[in-house]
Order: sequence, then structure tokens, then C-alpha cells
Amino acid sequence: MLSAVGPPVTVRVPAKINLHLAVGDLRDDGYHDLVTVFQALSIADEVSVTRAVRDAIEPGVTVSGADGVDVSEVPDDTTNLAWRAVEALARRADRQPDVRIGLHKAIPVAGGMAGGSADAAGALLAAASLWRLDMGREGLMEIAAEVGSDVAFALHGGTALGTGRGERLVPVLSRHTFHWVVAVADHGLSTPTVFGELDRLRARPEAPRRVGDVEPVLEALASGEARSLALLLGNDLQAAAVSLDPGLRRTLRGGVDAGALAGVVSGSGPTCVFLCDGHDAAVRVAAELAGAGVCRTVRVAHGPVPGARVVDGDGGS
Ligand code: C5P
Repeated sequence: MLSAVGPPVTVRVPAKINLHLAVGDLRDDGYHDLVTVFQALSIADEVSVTRAVRDAIEPGVTVSGADGVDVSEVPDDTTNLAWRAVEALARRADRQPDVRIGLHKAIPVAGGMAGGSADAAGALLAAASLWRLDMGREGLMEIAAEVGSDVAFALHGGTALGTGRGERLVPVLSRHTFHWVVAVADHGLSTPTVFGELDRLRARPEAPRRVGDVEPVLEALASGEARSLALLLGNDLQAAAVSLDPGLRRTLRGGVDAGALAGVVSGSGPTCVFLCDGHDAAVRVAAELAGAGVCRTVRVAHGPVPGARVVDGDGGS
């Protein structure tokens, strides 16, 4: 006999890009200290969490992709970061992770836009709402930081300065909306591999130049001047991503040739993002870049947008 299952709670959770990403040396725990400026973009995954009752719905993860999003590499078992996040929350709440998680992905997979972290943040918020846990945003942020370096920012959203592994966040004043073109590659890059490649490049005599100080980036964000911000976009992981995937040079050049103010590899790549002088310019750049054959798909997006939020359902009883 089938048992009744309550309605799902659905959360929308944004992709991130790094406007500035300064990577320090390798720490003893295998991580690198970062100084980074995150911005949440208007490309979002939808995460729903449904109560799973024995005999009715098997606990676990179901994955689907929005148009053009290849989800074949996303795990649909307990290794998915979203599942690990729900398990961590269940442990904290001293209960069973008796849920089914649905991921509808618009964020590129293994693209350097923290899609997996976004799903973990979405699942945390959705499960906390479904279970009516009273742990506040701070409690969730704490668990998020344990689950992965970018999970806390996906909850936070907006524009923020991240330090530590990237999980310690301070909001940043960002006066206007910035318009971006996102160039998605036809393959992914593994984050640990890209960090490892940077360590390798830095051990050579001709080590890549490091990005500058973060303060001018914060000033450009406060001024809302896209042209000022464009001059300051920088990512220490870019040299490593390009070293592993030299074709990214063509993508980066293609966006600027198409009229973007500047382009940068997003996080550990291979997604490249291009800052444009307004929405109309972004649409023009996207159209031209799409025709240039230097990436798989092209998206127009804007930021900052809010972090994870419940868009449907409140958990029921
Ligand atoms: O924290 P998360 O699981 O997202 O990190 C994935 C991998 O990326 C880590 O295992 C590490 O190799 C690398 N990483 C790093 N320094 C950071 C964040 C991530 O070296 N600050």
C-alpha cells in the first residue's frame, strides 16, 4: 500500500561567478586560502525536496536538465553534494534524511559556476523548510560551509567578499545591475585538478602573475561603473584552466572581439563570462559569440541576484 507523501518544497538557487579570485599557497589541509569577490547571476537551478515515505518514494536524487544542459555527469545517488548536505542537516537535527531530492539544472555542470554547491545550498534550505527546523540563516550557513567551499555563498547570494576557503563571507555594496554573457564549454574541468595545475605552474621559474589587490574591485562595484569593473576582473585560476584547456584562449578573445568590455574564466572554468555595457550590448555580444564557434552555448545573464530562496511549498505538517 502506498503511503501519503506531502507536497515538495522548491528552492531557486543561483550560479556564481568570481569577479576577483586571488589564490594563496596550498595549505596543509589540501585547500588554498582565497580572497574572492563572488557575484550571484540570474542562472538558477531548482531544487525540490519531498518527504519520502517507505513504499511510496525511494530516498535519493532525481536529476533533470533545462534546455541545452548536459546532466549526464551529475550523480543521482548519495554521492551527490545535495544529498550530502541533507545528510549533514539531518544529523544536526537528529533525524533521518527521509527525503527525495529533485534537481532541475540550468547551471552548467562542472563549469566553474558552483552548480553542485548551488544544489547543496538549495537542498539545505528546502529540507530545513520541509522539516520546519528553526535554526536560522546562521545555522544553515554553518552547515553549508562544512559541506563545500562555495555552498555558503549560494545561500547568501548578491555580491560578497569571500575569504578562507571562500566560505567566510562579508556582503559587498554593488550599486547597479551588471550584464554578462556566459560562454559554456562542451566539457567540464575538475576543480581540484585546476587548483593542482596552478600549484604546478607556480613551482616553475616563469610562474603566472598574480591578480592585484581586491580594494579597487570593491570600489568599482560601489561605483556601479561596468567600465571600471571590466579593467579589474581577474582570476588566478585562469592561467591553470587555460593551461589544461588551451582552447579557452579563443573563447576569451572571441567575447572581446564580439564587443564585451572584458572577459574572464569563471572560478575553475571552463565557463568564461564577459562583462557588457548594458543588456542590449549583452544580447548583441551573445549573438555574435554564438556564431563564432568558440563555445557550446551562450547565455545572457545579470547580477547580482538574491541567494537561495523558497519559491514553492512551505513544508506542510
Ligand atoms: O570545497 P570544495 O569541495 O568545493 O572544493 C573542491 C576542491 O577544490 C578541494 O578538494 C580542493 O582541491 C580545491 N579547493 C582548494 N581551495 C579552495 C577551495 C577548493 O584547493 N579554497
